Amino acid sequence: MNGWSAETADATEMHPLEELRDSALADVAAATDESALDAVRVRYLGRSGSIAAWGEQMKSLSKEEKPVVGKLLNQVRSAVTSALGEAGEKLRAAKESGALAATDISLPGTPDDIGALHPLTQMLDRAIGIFRRMGFALAEGPDVEDEWHCFDALNTAPDHPARNEQDTFFLPDGRLLRTHTSTVQIRTMESAPPPIRVIAPGAAFRRDEVDATHSAQFHQIEGLYVDQRVSVADLKGTLEYFLRELFGPDTAVRFRPHYFPFTEPSFEIDVKSRALKSGEKWIEVCGCGMVHPAVYEEVNRARSDTAYDPEKWTGFAFGLGMDRLAMILFGIPDIRLFAQNDLRFLGQFAG
Ligand code: PHE
Repeated sequence: MNGWSAETADATEMHPLEELRDSALADVAAATDESALDAVRVRYLGRSGSIAAWGEQMKSLSKEEKPVVGKLLNQVRSAVTSALGEAGEKLRAAKESGALAATDISLPGTPDDIGALHPLTQMLDRAIGIFRRMGFALAEGPDVEDEWHCFDALNTAPDHPARNEQDTFFLPDGRLLRTHTSTVQIRTMESAPPPIRVIAPGAAFRRDEVDATHSAQFHQIEGLYVDQRVSVADLKGTLEYFLRELFGPDTAVRFRPHYFPFTEPSFEIDVKSRALKSGEKWIEVCGCGMVHPAVYEEVNRARSDTAYDPEKWTGFAFGLGMDRLAMILFGIPDIRLFAQNDLRFLGQFAG
């Protein structure tokens, strides 16, 4: 074995294993990337590498030499192994910081475009918030209705113009698209006894000529309040509060006498505020009134009880035009914008 033996070696002479170690360490130091380092690893530590070959040769050593060379071999193996490990770490770290250097972390990030709520939804959220604070619960009913819920139960005569094919979308089976959300008044009273305090936002449908202020589908917020000794003063107080919360404390609110078959007396409400785009103009936003006794009677018939005794219970109902409210609130000139999905329009209500 290279003429070296434990007995004859003098202290300054290098054992070939030590030479092997030094050349391994030099190769490790010279490796400039991970694949070069891998080649070094295979060359020295691989199964047919030079250190393994020394392991094989151990068998042929004498009893005296074995422990000395064995110890040396172990030291060489662990020196080379740890040098390989350290060099690998260094190369990986260098690679990572190189990748980071190519990235300018001071550049602004790419914003996440998560969109925004539709202006009608924003309007709805505000309205619901205000009514919630006054203790109103949410109610709902179907868009496709029967004539009874839309008209008969609401004291609307068979010859009323709203029941005409010209005004209302009828389905072939005789059902219809509800012309107002007042259907939910009936459905709520059918399913629960008084007292009642609900709002019901939703879509309504009419065969209107479409223009800047009319659409075949629009949205309303229905309200119904039934309790003992409810008066017109409660109706006025509730709606004035709502409208001033929505449009600002300086909003003027006007009640005009009107007619609806299902309320008596009935009113239409106009608002005006200099803070709004509409400025000095009165704008109609709501139909309302005290629930007609005939409606209670019809509900009682449907319930087969007398839960809604008109002698005992009184109440008010209202229907707010939600598209109209949003148009006033946001200064939107054309109702058709709500349904056209134009991002130039919708984007103005983001953030
Ligand atoms: N339903 C009526 C409409 O659509 C509004 C209304 C609701 C009037 C409730 C009185 C009471 O015009």
